[in-house]
Amino acid sequence: MQIGKINIPNAILLAPMEDVTDIAFRLICKRLGADLVYTEFINSEGLIRNSEKTKQKMLFLPSERPLGIQIYGNSDSSMERAAQMAEELQPDLIDINAGCWVRKVIRHGAGAGLLQDLKKMERMISSVVKAVKLPVTVKTRLGWDERSKKIVEVARIVEDAGAQALTIHCRTRSQGQKGKPDYSLIPDVKKAVKIPIIVNGGITSAIIAEEVFATTG
Ligand SMILES: Cc1cc2nc3c(=O)[nH]c(=O)nc-3n(C[C@H](O)[C@H](O)[C@H](O)COP(=O)(O)O)c2cc1C
Repeated sequence: MQIGKINIPNAILLAPMEDVTDIAFRLICKRLGADLVYTEFINSEGLIRNSEKTKQKMLFLPSERPLGIQIYGNSDSSMERAAQMAEELQPDLIDINAGCWVRKVIRHGAGAGLLQDLKKMERMISSVVKAVKLPVTVKTRLGWDERSKKIVEVARIVEDAGAQALTIHCRTRSQGQKGKPDYSLIPDVKKAVKIPIIVNGGITSAIIAEEVFATTG
């Protein structure tokens, strides 16, 4: 898999997890073979307010590379500025969270809230892409709920806005962290866009990872 200039041979990635994927955790996963790791999601408003606690979440060690800093927020301007602050630390890429389902995030239109306003999602991604030189990627879900699995349309929007890869948590916003992931739409997404698609959700063993690679391509 190729994201910008980053070549990721096996493409087994560590998902971003709040309060979990800190430096120590990421280093352990790296040692165990993770090809790309991410920070937890980082609030753009906290970054632009210069919160030390928030800024610390962006720190990483050279041995963790390749690494993505993930940011989230509800306004283009705060996301642009936050992406520039992240870029100053020279991670390998910047990932936009468009998949977090928790109420305190979506009620402001951030995270999976962006799935309810695809124009806003497009604007935000292209603003961030224009604000930085690093590759920008996006992580989202199949859709808001069972009736609105718009992931094929979303993938086109993400690609047209200039993002260089898309991670799909194969559940809807309504499912939260529970329920069976649905990988069945991934082949359609892959047909619709050229950027790399990263499948996420329910990958709890090497056997399942192999099966999902085989069934989704
Ligand atoms: C404790 C925890 C924290 C999470 N924090 C984030 C986060 O900061 N950013 C993000 O994109 N996803 C976050 N997620 C979602 C995961 O990245 C991933 O999409 C999800 O766990 C996949 O489902 P699975 O647990 O069934 O594999 C979090 C998940 C968990 C369990």
